[in-house]
Amino acid sequence: MIAAQVKEYNKKSIAVQLVEMEKPSIGNTEVLIKVLAAGVNPLDNMISRGEVKMIVPYKLPVTAGNEFVGLVEEVGSEVSNFKVNDRVFARLPLNKIGAFAEYISVVEAALAKVPDYLSDIEAAAVPLTALTTMQALDLMKVKTGKSIFISGGTGSVGAMAIPIAKAKGLRVITNGSAENEKRVLELGVNQFIDYKKEDYTKVLTEVDYVLDTLGGNETEKQMSILKKGGTLVSLKGMPNGAFAKRMNLPKWKRVLFGIAGRKFDKLAEKHGVFYEFIFVESNGSQLQEVADIFEELKIKPSIDTVYPFHEVNAALDKVANGRSKGKTIITIGEK
Ligand SMILES: NC(=O)c1ccc[n+]([C@@H]2O[C@H](COP(=O)([O-])OP(=O)(O)OC[C@H]3O[C@@H](n4cnc5c(N)ncnc54)[C@H](OP(=O)(O)O)[C@@H]3O)[C@@H](O)[C@H]2O)c1
Repeated sequence: MIAAQVKEYNKKSIAVQLVEMEKPSIGNTEVLIKVLAAGVNPLDNMISRGEVKMIVPYKLPVTAGNEFVGLVEEVGSEVSNFKVNDRVFARLPLNKIGAFAEYISVVEAALAKVPDYLSDIEAAAVPLTALTTMQALDLMKVKTGKSIFISGGTGSVGAMAIPIAKAKGLRVITNGSAENEKRVLELGVNQFIDYKKEDYTKVLTEVDYVLDTLGGNETEKQMSILKKGGTLVSLKGMPNGAFAKRMNLPKWKRVLFGIAGRKFDKLAEKHGVFYEFIFVESNGSQLQEVADIFEELKIKPSIDTVYPFHEVNAALDKVANGRSKGKTIITIGEK
């Protein structure tokens, strides 16, 4: 089979290499899947650049790709929830990625069944950003009727976070590029701010929760719009000690992240709010919850561009260059 691999960490090049490999075998709790399509994420480029080495130290070469949709071809002897020909999707476990491949073996616990109304391309856009949203909203302990600011909501995270936050009964405010305003309003956004024309810190106060997709100096700015006691969950800020503990990282990494993230913990203290960082993990039952919400509300993910598998590097470049209108997808196999 063909797979796209990261051969070495390279800060200057995000290119992966297409290689011929053995089709994977499966363990008792695993499922063999023929991959139909895979979502492409900024995370794929961060892995190639070696930017997440401290959180997940991959042994190279590693097959790239963090999320996919595919068809079950074979199930292990202890697999109980899936059968041959089921259409499934997943964000892959951190220790075993590899969605950019014709076949993949995945533990049952990471998988969920795809709602029928979603096409393969639409389904491939869901797992990683939907789980990111679910895991962030869980940490915020969101309650119906409260408000959330999703920064940069015109990108692929926003395309999932907006409808899921709406489905959880939140009032959703977002900012992003003006060309995507109509699309995010259609996703249910209550208030849109054009980030090139308006400063959200001048128009927003007393927000209950923030999902920070921007990081850097924007993180403190977003803390300033929160109510006292509000929570900001960052996808792009600095990991902190609480994150390292939640992820069960070794003690020395907990100390290191404790030091690295202290600045943000202190800023949160200054603003009287809570700061959390997350790194999205696989979770089949949480993804099934998303699939059920989607099935009921018939939510359609926003798709930006679709590339064939042999153009995987063009897809990675597209994601690296921004101007996102939703998800970039690569198509891999056929039914
Ligand atoms: N920690 C985790 O587990 C996790 C999980 C998922 C994603 N992430 C991170 O979350 C970030 C967003 O991911 P994504 O897939 O949504 O990226 P994306 O698809 O590239 O979208 C980013 C969006 O933000 C907009 N934007 C850029 N600068 C902005 C600013 N200053 N203010 C407001 N909007 C701005 C962009 O608009 P333009 O068209 O103007 O560029 C674009 O629409 C990435 O850094 C990714 O690595 C982390």
